[in-house]
Amino acid sequence: MITQKTLIIGANSAIAQAIATEHSGLSNSEVILVSRGFSDNVLVTYQNLQNTRLISVEDYTVSSIELACIKIQADSTLPITNVFVCNGILHSETIQPEKRLEDFDAESFNQVMSANALTPMLWLQKLVPILTGKIRCNIIVFSARVGSISENKLGGWYSYRASKAALNMMLKTASVELARRAKNIKVIVFHPGTTDTELSKPFHKNVPKGKLFTCEFVAQQLLEVVKGQELDQTASFLDWKGETINW
Ligand SMILES: NC(=O)c1ccc[n+]([C@@H]2O[C@H](COP(=O)([O-])OP(=O)(O)OC[C@H]3O[C@@H](n4cnc5c(N)ncnc54)[C@H](OP(=O)(O)O)[C@@H]3O)[C@@H](O)[C@H]2O)c1
Repeated sequence: MITQKTLIIGANSAIAQAIATEHSGLSNSEVILVSRGFSDNVLVTYQNLQNTRLISVEDYTVSSIELACIKIQADSTLPITNVFVCNGILHSETIQPEKRLEDFDAESFNQVMSANALTPMLWLQKLVPILTGKIRCNIIVFSARVGSISENKLGGWYSYRASKAALNMMLKTASVELARRAKNIKVIVFHPGTTDTELSKPFHKNVPKGKLFTCEFVAQQLLEVVKGQELDQTASFLDWKGETINW
């Protein structure tokens, strides 16, 4: 019998697909998948999973997110117990992570900030009213270790680093507020490690042997990490091993 819902946002993400696959093995949970458009391969994956529901959004503007939130609540009042926000870009046809100051570009910066910091923040804002209640809800947002200001030794990747640092600050700030008004919510800011997806593909040649993770491995690690977290009214910045990363 289905007793709870899991929400996965940015469901085209390769890691999102692995999380959904892990979750579909749990017979008590419906998995709701949100994306701007499910690619054919992704659709095949999701259609083979049990208890899934797909919601397409036109984009990640406020109005599209609000509409999606209505659909998320539409057909049942079962509690949402896990939310995974998987959105994030590092490069695109027009964007490359900067190697040096001369590479910095205002338009690229705005696009990276929008995808990596603004989109998760808007989801958090619109979802908290739905998630607040008596039953525990974990909100897991994908960040990256390179968003840690104190651990930045290598430099470069200005926009991606800045967008993840901004994301981290907003999630930490939100957790302070949620400690007062939504004590059932645990915020987890997650670094998956270098994982074999389109996002990391251009950089695979630099990854040491054994350090490029499969999405399946990362999804399994993440679910174990989430299980181990206390409902302690603060955001935790954690890696795939469950170890704390300095902000
Ligand atoms: N792969 C790695 O090595 C690695 C390492 C550290 C951190 N991460 C983080 O892990 C998360 C998942 O990454 P992934 O490797 O699974 O990447 P991916 O397969 O390339 O997935 C991209 C994700 O970003 C969303 N997205 C793409 N363009 C967007 C835009 N313009 N605005 C808002 N969202 C957009 C997609 O949502 P739709 O479903 O709507 O297309 C999808 O959720 C990201 O936050 C990434 O920064 C990944």
